[in-house]
Amino acid sequence: MLVTGGEILTKARAGKYGVAAFNTNDLEITQAIIHTAEKLSSPVIVQLSEGAIKYAGLSDLTNLVADLARRASVPVAIHLDHGSSFESCMKAIRAGFTSVMIDASHHNFADNVRDTKKVVEAAHFMGVTVEAELGRLGGIEEHIVVDEADAFLTDPQEAVQFVEQTGVDYLAIAIGTSHGAFKGKGRPYIDHARIETIGGLLSIPLVAHGSSGVPAYIVERLRAAGGEIGEAAGIADDDLTRACQHGIAKVNVDTDLRLAFTVGIREVLQKNPKEFDPRKILGPARDLMAELITHKLTVLGSVGKA
Ligand code: G3H
Ligand code: 13P
Ligand code: ZN
Repeated sequence: MLVTGGEILTKARAGKYGVAAFNTNDLEITQAIIHTAEKLSSPVIVQLSEGAIKYAGLSDLTNLVADLARRASVPVAIHLDHGSSFESCMKAIRAGFTSVMIDASHHNFADNVRDTKKVVEAAHFMGVTVEAELGRLGGIEEHIVVDEADAFLTDPQEAVQFVEQTGVDYLAIAIGTSHGAFKGKGRPYIDHARIETIGGLLSIPLVAHGSSGVPAYIVERLRAAGGEIGEAAGIADDDLTRACQHGIAKVNVDTDLRLAFTVGIREVLQKNPKEFDPRKILGPARDLMAELITHKLTVLGSVGKA
């Protein structure tokens, strides 16, 4: 069933588990996400970036996701990932999204408040819930001096003021995660003390971007199938489990599905260079994505929570 992001995330925050928000760009990714969530009785969020919309077309991709979501046996929200403007958020809402992110985190505090508030007022009027971001995403080293981390990680007091002034429904915070397959040398450091402080001050669901695990076995399989990738690293499972105990309720994952998709395709073509039936090439990619999705939903504790 198609629901708002707020409905899914409020329950997750209260129940101390995380809900994965996976990025989609096409049919295979969307099916892997929604069918796996149904199999595991888990709520899930399907998110589209502006890049995904540009690639697949707003109407084409939204209708595909919305149809699967409406027919799903579990709660599904359709979310705009990193919306860059008021207009972009409104377009998404008009197309059928039930959740939008306005990402004005690159602005100063006052401008971020102004842009977020404007989207919140309009979205709430249309029954849609909103995510905003405060702080700047980026990997941190364990030994980094506090002043340096404070410069871009989310400030707890500012987070309280931001939520009060904007009325935003869920807030993305910078805690040491970063986008992509290269999150640091070795295990990325996650600032759990900061999560606990912010989670103690705010009762709304918190959001962790850049939460792919980049599993070593997938990276190995990518290399074995002829792919080239540098020193890849992702967020450890136990860091996510711990974060969800203290307020993180929405966990964004894109890179893991990109890797699985590519490994699936490469392996088929490497094994059978004569293959040219797209279903035989994309089917295994969809299966491998489903495997990673199953793992993520299990780690976050959303299995059986639909
Ligand atoms: O946070 C960004 C997501 O991974 C989406 O990436 O803008 O290339 O679609 P994209
Ligand atoms: P990853 O690059 O870790 O998958 O993060 C995706 C994300 O945060 C999308 O908003
Ligand atoms: Zn993100």
